[in-house]
Amino acid sequence: MKFDTMGLDNALLKSLKDYIDTFDNKENNIISILHYAQDIFGYLPKELQVYIARLTNLPASRINGIVTFYSFFNENKMGKFKVDVCLGTACFVKGSEEIMKAFKDELSVDGDGLSEDGLFNVNSIRCVGACGIGPVVRVNDKIYGHVEVSDVKEIIKAHRNELATEEN
Ligand code: FES
Repeated sequence: MKFDTMGLDNALLKSLKDYIDTFDNKENNIISILHYAQDIFGYLPKELQVYIARLTNLPASRINGIVTFYSFFNENKMGKFKVDVCLGTACFVKGSEEIMKAFKDELSVDGDGLSEDGLFNVNSIRCVGACGIGPVVRVNDKIYGHVEVSDVKEIIKAHRNELATEEN
């Protein structure tokens, strides 16, 4: 039966199938299979999960359960910079919701939190244990404290510059 791969790259799907075929016991190797799929596609969208379910004879719900359980798997396209805005209570009362809005507006993020240019993902997180310097924003591994709405443009610019430096 044919199923919808929603425009996923055929060469990559073939590579994934070849990789899956190397395992006699696909169920025992499902984490490796998902890692491989994420490495070549960059993320694990639902249609790819269904594809993997078919080739491993596992229920799609089981695959989805694994993908959503482990934080190192992503169902959505990821940008280079992961912007986490803390909406824990201490940060929230100091205005982190406004900061979240400012990031979303500035980066024109879509419903999945991906910026229009594909470089940033904006997400909310709960307390990261740095309440004393709230509102807190984390970009990849870097923590920003006492963030104000007026800092948002600067934070974005610093990471765009970082990227430009890496590319030169
Ligand atoms: S509530 Fe944001 S760091 Fe604790």
